[in-house]
Amino acid sequence: MMYDIHNHLIYQFDDGPVSLEEVVEMLKMARDQGITRVFATSHFQELIPPELEEHYFRKLTELQDRLEHENIPIQVFSGSEIFFHHYMNETVKRTRVGTLAGLGKYVLLEFPLFLMPSGVSEALFKLKMDGLVPIIAHPERYSSVLENPETVLEYLKYGALLQVNAGSVTGDFGRRVQKIAMWMVEHRLVHFLGSDAHNARSRTFRLAEAVKQLRRHVEEDYIQALVEHFPARILKNEDPEPIRIPEPEEQRGFFSRLKQKLFSLGKG
Ligand SMILES: [Fe+2]
Repeated sequence: MMYDIHNHLIYQFDDGPVSLEEVVEMLKMARDQGITRVFATSHFQELIPPELEEHYFRKLTELQDRLEHENIPIQVFSGSEIFFHHYMNETVKRTRVGTLAGLGKYVLLEFPLFLMPSGVSEALFKLKMDGLVPIIAHPERYSSVLENPETVLEYLKYGALLQVNAGSVTGDFGRRVQKIAMWMVEHRLVHFLGSDAHNARSRTFRLAEAVKQLRRHVEEDYIQALVEHFPARILKNEDPEPIRIPEPEEQRGFFSRLKQKLFSLGKG
């Protein structure tokens, strides 16, 4: 049994699938990979009017009915990938789609890829103070993290969890992204793997492939935690498993090794 917490599965809603047929095709691929529970985390901006949310939930129900009708044994839960803004707490509390499975706790958020906004740590801490658990979508893809991997430790310290993309682990986003993703996983800084599937062709479910790749580098118990035990806590509305953040004196060796690896790859 595997969970996949980050995917775009509501058709004609964001840059995801264009038809219900395409979503069904994607979910058949997910089923074939052993995925049994997915979250439909469509992109949302700071403004989430009630009509937009209703529209989302109507399409989610349509999808769930279709899966039942076709006997595809996958449960789809609601969610969103919210574009970072400075009053996340209000947005999340006002909406049902703002937290994973609508349970009022776990929030999947994304940043602009090429420019990290200011005040991120404070915003993460504010979410934590409100009893929310922010999850940073694909940290390995942000240029600020590629330049300064240390920043993820700061985010972890302020209470965020990290979700790495399956495609980053398999190398779909290039060697540098893959190196950073593997570095985070190997140091057990990550809570979730997500396919971040957008369509049935170029960006689809990738969990099985990523797990295969990870088996060459990390222990099986941690792989099981990433795809099953940690995400299961979301549905139980439990707090996340605490993570061990390396001490400052450990960090020096930690980063110089990573930077050497990245340097040897050159730019790009
Ligand atoms: Fe996404």
